[in-house]
Amino acid sequence: MESKELILILDFGGQYNQLIARRVRECNVYSEVVPYDVSLEKIKEKNPKGIIFTGGPASVYGEDSPQCVDGIFELGIPVLGICYGMQLMSHTLGGKVLSADTREFGETSVSIDNTSPLFQGFESQNIFLMSHTDYVAEVPMGFAKIGFTSDCPHAAMENSEKKLYGIQFHPEVNNSVNGTQVIKNFLYNVCGCSGNWIMSSFVEDSIKSLKEKIGDKKALCALSGGVDSSVAAVLLSKAIGKNLTCIFVDHGLLRKNEGDEVEEIFTKNYDLNFVRVDAKNRFLEKLAGVTDPERKRKIIGEEFIRVFEAEAKKIGTVDFLVQGTIYPDVIESGHGKSAVIKSHHNVGGLPDYVDFKEIIEPLRSLFKDEVRKTGLELGIPENLVYRQPFPGPGLAIRVIGDITDDKLTILKDADAIFREEVANAGLHKNINQYFAVLTNLKSVGVIGDKRTYDYTVALRAVETTDFMTGVWSKIPYNVLEKVSTRIVNEVEHVNRVVYDITSKPPATIEWE
Ligand code: XMP
Repeated sequence: MESKELILILDFGGQYNQLIARRVRECNVYSEVVPYDVSLEKIKEKNPKGIIFTGGPASVYGEDSPQCVDGIFELGIPVLGICYGMQLMSHTLGGKVLSADTREFGETSVSIDNTSPLFQGFESQNIFLMSHTDYVAEVPMGFAKIGFTSDCPHAAMENSEKKLYGIQFHPEVNNSVNGTQVIKNFLYNVCGCSGNWIMSSFVEDSIKSLKEKIGDKKALCALSGGVDSSVAAVLLSKAIGKNLTCIFVDHGLLRKNEGDEVEEIFTKNYDLNFVRVDAKNRFLEKLAGVTDPERKRKIIGEEFIRVFEAEAKKIGTVDFLVQGTIYPDVIESGHGKSAVIKSHHNVGGLPDYVDFKEIIEPLRSLFKDEVRKTGLELGIPENLVYRQPFPGPGLAIRVIGDITDDKLTILKDADAIFREEVANAGLHKNINQYFAVLTNLKSVGVIGDKRTYDYTVALRAVETTDFMTGVWSKIPYNVLEKVSTRIVNEVEHVNRVVYDITSKPPATIEWE
């Protein structure tokens, strides 16, 4: 692992920072995002093959604008500055940055010098996304102009001798045609990377180092059936086999048949100790009569830990606790603060009283798509690997108001029909999250000649990449019609189905 090539991405507060890291990894080079003020010692210690400065909202002349650490350009490590990163490079090395009267924004035709290693293989005109007000008016000494637009005199610059490059556009976004190739050229042509970051080698290396670290000691893993904990568990089982125990707390709030599916996958396919705890009654008792969404979350979070602890105690002392933490959960922002990723969302958390010596987070360096690739590498079934996100509190926050076993059954059946029809229509690949909600509303209906007074089920489907914002999915009417007909016909106590046509914001994805 230590020999892997690394690109350090210095975060100057731009909105696309994680995207840059992902693009680099798509080029098979490992990358990490670190705060812009990371010390020179730390950089040397990490020994990167190259450094990328991200964009950011600041102006180099602004008060408190983020600056680069002294001496960074003297390390002999290639640097690529993107947008603010380019302006900062220029400003620091003696060039001139000015503020334009108007902002240059959008897909822009950029003329480039394709004899530069950065633009090898490119046409002389290319469409890249520009988004800036400040611009480099004069490049520093030793630099040459290698790109311009009708509004921007220096859209790209290079100092080939020192391997310092700046680009005013954003190569990391999809709007920049062949933008990833610019990054790839930097990695391969300028930094001399060979591209040894591939998932199969990650799996191999991880298994080897986990074996060395754990030896014949014991590890414990809380398995939720979600992608991250499942991949972590399988990785560990390949490394230490029966010395791994997975505890799967079935809180009774999972989707239809989900508990059985998880159990089947893990007991049939892998050589590990699998403990399924049927804790449904415990959870439902604690939740009885509770209607407030945040209280539901809290109760479930706490109860989850209690159940996990009780089971862990039966096993005795374990040396290692395995967690499925992934990179976006640990990444630090440009201002040195850890990004808090919805702490209230992390049901399960860390049990305080479980007797273990060390935490192992084998997926700590991976993005979600890399976790999925790792899962496939490990032979985990595709339907688990591509499972849509499912909240820790499960169906508890999809039964609006108080939760009962009967309501859960209604919701599970309706939700299963919705998911089945979305899949039948081949829409599951485009819709990122879709589920049914049991509203607390009863309304009058008629079936045959009889009046009914039953529940309304709401369908929710969103398209999103980050789950922070999203738009409601335009599912074709014929699919919605089929789902609605099936639900009212097949699920008792439902006489009305509605479709949620609100995006996020202002609504959230879940109803509670
Ligand atoms: P919202 O409803 O906030 O959801 O728009 C955004 C994403 O987070 C998921 N979510 C949760 N996940 N525990 C979780 O593990 C929770 O309490 C929780 N609440 C929402 C939601 O499913 C969506 O993917």
